[in-house]
Amino acid sequence: MVFGLFKKKEPVKVTIKSTGDTFMCEPGEILMKAALKHKIDWPLSCKVGSCGSCRATILEGEGKYPPSPADPVFLLYKEEMDKGMVIACQWTPTTDIVVDVEVGKEGDRRGMI
Ligand code: FES
Repeated sequence: MVFGLFKKKEPVKVTIKSTGDTFMCEPGEILMKAALKHKIDWPLSCKVGSCGSCRATILEGEGKYPPSPADPVFLLYKEEMDKGMVIACQWTPTTDIVVDVEVGKEGDRRGMI
């Protein structure tokens, strides 16, 4: 029905598998920014999608990359993308998710910075 067109988007729940930490991500909010807002020690370096150190694997749930002139998936191998790996500083969850990320570690950089 028409009412569905005006349905308010709700925050989604993010669960980190390794630590059991959970936090909420607002509609359209970038995964890594939400994690940092909730004091999660997410691996990162550039924060702009060019180094790859924020990589995380989405075990459950879905999301997307917002439109951008730069395509962050150049930092990922096909096998990694097939397993659900994303560039967390550029990716937005659209449903509740369970994510595998090495909290508290320095992510290895494979990109330009
Ligand atoms: S922090 Fe560098 S690509 Fe995400």
